[in-house]
Amino acid sequence: MHATDIIAKKRDGDELSREEIEFFVQGYAQGQIPDYQAASWLMAVFLRGMTDRETLDLTMAMAHSGDMLDLDDVAPITVDKHSTGGVGDKVSLIVVPLVAACGMPVAKMTGRGLGFTGGTVDKLESIPGFRTDLNDAEFRAQIAEIGVVLTGQSADLAPADRKLYALRDVTGTINSIPLIVSSIMSKKIAAGADGIVLDVKVGHGAFMKTLEDAEKLAEAMVRLGTEAGRRVVALISDMNQPLGWAVGNALEVKEAISTLHEGGPADLREHCLVVASEMLVLSGKAVDTSDALTLALETLSSGAAWQKFKELVEAQGGDVRTIEEPERLPQAKLIEPVPAPRSGYLAELNAVEVGQAVVELGGGREKKEDPIDHSVGVVVHYKVGDLVQKNTPLFTVHASDEEKLAAARERVLAAHTFSDRPVQRLPIFYKRVAE
Ligand code: URA
Repeated sequence: MHATDIIAKKRDGDELSREEIEFFVQGYAQGQIPDYQAASWLMAVFLRGMTDRETLDLTMAMAHSGDMLDLDDVAPITVDKHSTGGVGDKVSLIVVPLVAACGMPVAKMTGRGLGFTGGTVDKLESIPGFRTDLNDAEFRAQIAEIGVVLTGQSADLAPADRKLYALRDVTGTINSIPLIVSSIMSKKIAAGADGIVLDVKVGHGAFMKTLEDAEKLAEAMVRLGTEAGRRVVALISDMNQPLGWAVGNALEVKEAISTLHEGGPADLREHCLVVASEMLVLSGKAVDTSDALTLALETLSSGAAWQKFKELVEAQGGDVRTIEEPERLPQAKLIEPVPAPRSGYLAELNAVEVGQAVVELGGGREKKEDPIDHSVGVVVHYKVGDLVQKNTPLFTVHASDEEKLAAARERVLAAHTFSDRPVQRLPIFYKRVAE
């Protein structure tokens, strides 16, 4: 087999065989196929697409390019969740301990933020001492012992995806449904969970800008996961405005802590309860979503979810005092509330602009190796549809210096638009997709 023939076949719109796909993925992962050929092949896939069968073969080839975790010996059934990425998305910090506290083990590997979207690993690392680099033995021991683990993705998990994703990032081939599906699902399948809840974001702040595209992505992932023998449900959720109020690492941890204490923003709380319920049904812990919701609500209000979060932090070396007394978490030097320039209904709160403002404050990264400042960020005080009074605090900037604070203030102000007439609130979820 030759890489050039496989590239030309896809370029001409023909269907690749499983052997051809495996040859290409293995060849690239092992360094026998160079970047320029892989880039050309990615563009051919981007332009020509893939059939469901090709996408499944690509996903499995990528999953098998590294370790395939089998957790059966330590936890017979595990569930996982995955979000396609967003601004203010701290759902994993709440849902993972919540579902584990309901008695269903959750073993989750998670990522760092890139560009305007945040990552759970960065948020967790704002807790002093918290380790996100557990090795395989530690991962297994912890899931067996306390039924919950939340760590960075191991280097041996779907290494072909890591290489292909980096290449896609610089070749204009990110936004392709078969490539996104295979990238996400190869990691989820390799990580070993039996049930997977996918949170597919739609809106300005998401890969998928339209509901139609988000539906296509969600349907493709559910079909593929099911064919791969996993139980999969996808929820399509809004990412036009940030989720919750806080955007920025330590600020999001604080918001997650208050949500675990039954406080926190209403949209975040509802989002978490719905995702948790789906995870509980998929894993068989509840018979239906209403039964699951009751269980999740009880577990949240009894304090059991919060206790599980503390156990998780302690097990992974985090300083528990900083989550018991969140004022001990990293605090920005400058904290400035910004008054609303006018009264009116909030018509838009652009998630990308808020996310980008936080990156510029130092709370996110443009390049993978950039360091981040956990203390900085933005807390919005209104959501789309709310009536705002002139001069009341519209949002608060947490910054490390005056110059950055001024830039964030301007950017986040411009991300808000107002209307004199009532504006409809944005839904939290648009659709549920299951087989
Ligand atoms: N997240 C991933 O892991 N891969 C993609 O291709 C897109 C989002």
